[in-house]
Amino acid sequence: MTTILVLNGPNLGRLGAREPEVYGSETLADIGARIEASVPDGIHIDLRQTEDESELIGWLYEAVDRGTPVVLNPAAFTHYSYGLRDAAALLKQAGVPLIEVHLSNPHAREAFRHTSVISAVASGVIAGFGADSYLLAVEQIVRLIGASDARA
Ligand code: DQA
Repeated sequence: MTTILVLNGPNLGRLGAREPEVYGSETLADIGARIEASVPDGIHIDLRQTEDESELIGWLYEAVDRGTPVVLNPAAFTHYSYGLRDAAALLKQAGVPLIEVHLSNPHAREAFRHTSVISAVASGVIAGFGADSYLLAVEQIVRLIGASDARA
């Protein structure tokens, strides 16, 4: 069984009720269920959410130590958390994939959302497709894992 961590930053626990015109009407649990339904057998989705920067950093350490690939929606931390960025850089250094996702397209929104301090150390970024951003990211992680298995 291969685990993919799907990590979520602040206020994403309020999806469904939070600005549905921007983020859609699905809850994070709904999105988790859709991801689980989409993955091949043998892939386990571990979905987590926190308001706490240090908890999120701890989860990235866990991913580094276990070699677990990550789909990360850093939410507002995207735009200013150098601590989170430095933790994400550890995944890059370890060769563990991390895909940054956003439900909305931050570049089409307020200026403060145009900067991501995470993107430069992410394997890639998927944004603007609502909950499908997560599904696309998980699909790509599965592809990347398959590719690295094939090389092994
Ligand atoms: C978000 C975009 C961020 O700017 C915002 O702070 C969020 C959600 C997104 O998924 O579109 O909380 O990461």
